[in-house]
Amino acid sequence: MFYKSFRFMKGKLVEAPIYGLTVRGVTKHFHKTKKSDEKLRFHQKIRQLFKREKETIRAVDGISLDVSIGEIYGILGANGSGKSTLIRLISTLLLPDAGSIHVFGDDVVTNSMKVRRVMNRVSVEASFFKRLSSAENLIYAARLYGISAAEASKKARNILERLGFEAKRMDEEMEQLSRGMQQKVAIARALLTTPMLLLLDEPTTGLDPKSKRDVQAFIEEIRDDRNAVIVLTTHDMAEAERLCDRIAIIDNGKFIAEGTVKELIAKVPPKDNTPLTLEDVFIALTGKNLEEGEE
Ligand SMILES: Nc1ncnc2c1ncn2[C@@H]1O[C@H](COP(=O)(O)OP(=O)(O)O)[C@@H](O)[C@H]1O
Ligand SMILES: [Mg+2]
Repeated sequence: MFYKSFRFMKGKLVEAPIYGLTVRGVTKHFHKTKKSDEKLRFHQKIRQLFKREKETIRAVDGISLDVSIGEIYGILGANGSGKSTLIRLISTLLLPDAGSIHVFGDDVVTNSMKVRRVMNRVSVEASFFKRLSSAENLIYAARLYGISAAEASKKARNILERLGFEAKRMDEEMEQLSRGMQQKVAIARALLTTPMLLLLDEPTTGLDPKSKRDVQAFIEEIRDDRNAVIVLTTHDMAEAERLCDRIAIIDNGKFIAEGTVKELIAKVPPKDNTPLTLEDVFIALTGKNLEEGEE
């Protein structure tokens, strides 16, 4: 769904779609000192200290994308392909080396405070006070957003219930909870406010099958009942196919294909008339099989 606005362009009033999220040519490289496996003598080690060989990791390399309001945009890629780096760039946690990112028209670098107020990110590294309960953690987070404890508690209970998290376990210490349950708390925390941009970085990775289904069903619900922009990264083909309106395939920091599942499948010629799946397309384009060496 596009929200139309009228803008002046070259002195004329024109109708233009407002994208929720616009990423243009974004690049982020990391520089790492190369480790050599060879056994070095003392003087060689000293020399190495001064003459370190630097390795450049092109984590995100010239990526562009547009996501409109009401859309779930998927980023599908193997481990280490650059998904989390891209999400961190969008969420203002990292600064791009080149390119620009706009969230509802605001630049994430020059207007980061404003952007942070309209977005939330859920990732595997979510941090909590482990010795406090999920209810306490959620109320604490809500207070930071200026939401009252009573309202936060009501809202959190409602979200957790929809996620299949038993309300009676809300008073257990976080560290007693399974990965799946902790992830549900992380999602509830991100949705205490009403983020207009929701960044879900591998929201179901490492979850048990039931938690995975609960989380996926909940993501479908929020897509249906809010006008938010949702970006979801995954290495799960079925999840990308089920949840995402459009999918970009990322490999070595670059988008190598983008489109609906149908459009992606049309990019690869079928062999012996058997219809292709998203997985066939992924393997054909990246030469990688996501089922191998996962988790
Ligand atoms: N802070 C960092 N310093 C150095 N290298 C990094 C850093 N963050 C990510 N990388 C590297 O960038 C690449 C992309 O990582 P990441 O974005 O985490 O991929 P993904 O989320 O798809 O698994 C990897 O090679 C990773 O090792
Ligand atoms: Mg990641």
